[in-house]
Amino acid sequence: MSDVEEGVSRHYSAYDVLPRIRAGLQAMGRDPDHVEPGDLRLVDEFHIGGAEATAALLSDLDIRAGMDVLDIGCGIGGPARAIALETKANVTGVDLTPDFVEAASALSSMAGMDDRVVFTVGSALNLPFADATFDFATLLHVGMNIADKPQLFREAHRVLRPAGVFALYEVMRTGDGILSFPVPWAEREELSALAAPEAYRDAAAQAGFRLEGETDRRSLALDFFDRIRAQAGGAKPSPLGLHLLMGPTVGQKTANMVDAIKAGTIAPVQMIFRKA
Ligand SMILES: C[S@@+](CC[C@H](N)C(=O)[O-])C[C@H]1O[C@@H](n2cnc3c(N)ncnc32)[C@H](O)[C@@H]1O
Repeated sequence: MSDVEEGVSRHYSAYDVLPRIRAGLQAMGRDPDHVEPGDLRLVDEFHIGGAEATAALLSDLDIRAGMDVLDIGCGIGGPARAIALETKANVTGVDLTPDFVEAASALSSMAGMDDRVVFTVGSALNLPFADATFDFATLLHVGMNIADKPQLFREAHRVLRPAGVFALYEVMRTGDGILSFPVPWAEREELSALAAPEAYRDAAAQAGFRLEGETDRRSLALDFFDRIRAQAGGAKPSPLGLHLLMGPTVGQKTANMVDAIKAGTIAPVQMIFRKA
């Protein structure tokens, strides 16, 4: 692991997420050892828009039963489980942060999905898979922690089969304004590798991908945060939610990110590339 990767992994492993999620489930009256995958949705999709954004991405992809899908930077596994449930594909998740991979596997067992999704520790910059192993690769809110975009795309290209698809849903820099820290993906600016859409397009083209579609998801993001604010209505946070993954500075991280989205400085952007 490089120094940057160590810092990123430390950032994400700081909050002992699995015991907190189990306690949250109990507080909601669920038996943590027997949950429905839907019971985890409030906490296991660690990106803007949560399950709704994953569903929007999937609706633009033709993933079919029996295909092989790799979710790069899978976190605690929510998107991977959603893909497996929705498409009946064979899904593998890979992530740099061992605590998250352990939580991803444990949550899949708790939801009775061990045989549907597998998780492994590894870097997006040196994927632990043979060439041409997957039909689809996905990347949701991971690129903001990876400065070497060319290597990220080269690795995705290498593990995809001919005509394979690489689908991204990433926070990108869409304007010149100031981004204040902390944000959910970085306590400090040095751990952030936020980049403009051009950087993604260029790195993808260099690696041998063709861009098939690009969608700015700013309005989905703003609707999502409006809804969360309305639901919260000043009450205590739900026992289960993304705050469990972000530690004591969650309020500041979220406020900085929402302000920057409102100002047009950043936005979540979906891009779909095909291996040429
Ligand atoms: C904001 S979370 C998103 C998790 C997941 N994609 C989701 O949407 O629920 C970012 C994840 O990227 C992972 N990550 C960051 N840099 C990585 C790298 N170089 N290789 C693999 N995973 C990485 C982190 O460990 C973390 O789990």
